[in-house]
Amino acid sequence: VTEIYLRDVWYVAALGEELGEGLLRRHILDEPVLLFRDNGAIAALRDVCPHRFAPLSLGKRKNGGVECPYHGLVFDGSGKCIFNPHGDGRILPSAKVATYPVAERHGLIWIWMGDGALADPARIPDLGFLDSGDQRTRTHSYQVTNANYQLLTDNILDLSHADFLHPLLDSGGGTRQGAPEVKELSDGTMTVTWTWGPTAPLPFLSYLFEPGTEVHSRIAVRWHAPATMSLCVDCAPTREGLDDRETCMITPSVHAMTPETAYSTHYFFAGLRNFDLDNEECTRMLAEGTRIAFTEQDKPMIEAVQANMRDETDIFAMKPLGLIGDAGGVRVREKLRRLIGAERQAVSANQ
Ligand code: FES
Ligand SMILES: [Fe+2]
Repeated sequence: VTEIYLRDVWYVAALGEELGEGLLRRHILDEPVLLFRDNGAIAALRDVCPHRFAPLSLGKRKNGGVECPYHGLVFDGSGKCIFNPHGDGRILPSAKVATYPVAERHGLIWIWMGDGALADPARIPDLGFLDSGDQRTRTHSYQVTNANYQLLTDNILDLSHADFLHPLLDSGGGTRQGAPEVKELSDGTMTVTWTWGPTAPLPFLSYLFEPGTEVHSRIAVRWHAPATMSLCVDCAPTREGLDDRETCMITPSVHAMTPETAYSTHYFFAGLRNFDLDNEECTRMLAEGTRIAFTEQDKPMIEAVQANMRDETDIFAMKPLGLIGDAGGVRVREKLRRLIGAERQAVSANQ
């Protein structure tokens, strides 16, 4: 079997808002995971009781832990059994549940599915703009798309689809007329950038301008292996203005894809803006606009693509036709394939 996941990386497991004291079950890289807040800390347990393999997530919180719904063993947030209602109540050393390293950063819950010894929180992608931006403008969303995660990465890295699929993001050709600029940075991240103008502003910004106004636009995507992307939409009256971070209108966001299975993907989104800060109506409109774009436009299309690919996960194996907009996605797929190969080699060398 070809390995399709990179394991020694941080994945987004949940939006911070999603997680409370209650039990959240989520498959990540095919593994059932149980997440909950435990006295301020975050617990991430394998959602499998060591006795008869019942999902602990079907149980309930008890004495600071989780009670298995089947025969009542209680486990704490570190996976240790803290109560055995059977026999003399002795707790066997083998009565424990595997745990995963977790961290909360940028309003997101991150999980490490690989070798726990390598789980350094310093390796979480720096999405500090989510923390420094105006929190009144923050929107977020979560959904599952029934397609391989790399199809969702391709979708963000090739925004030429927006003109056809997303009326509110129609660039009027800006993301189609030339190839995007693709760069690999020294930290291993990759950027894909479209710059165009003067043209009409992107439709979701047009309410801010007099009819007929022309602006310069830029969309810059930064990819962190394997599938976390920041996406920044910039708008300014001049080309130089796009680089003036004080006056440029900036709409930054994060699109984080976490494989649920080979054929389904958790899609986490968080976005902000640096203009019209008091306008709650604008925040609502952007939240609704992204909801429609993700759930009614991208999701059905990408699921239909996966259905046409049947059980294939490697789009290269199907010899796709290339267009100039694919430049970033193709580079990223090649890089990811190398990273997964290198990780597999390192794992087998250690075995
Ligand atoms: S399956 Fe959990 S206690 Fe039996
Ligand atoms: Fe899209």
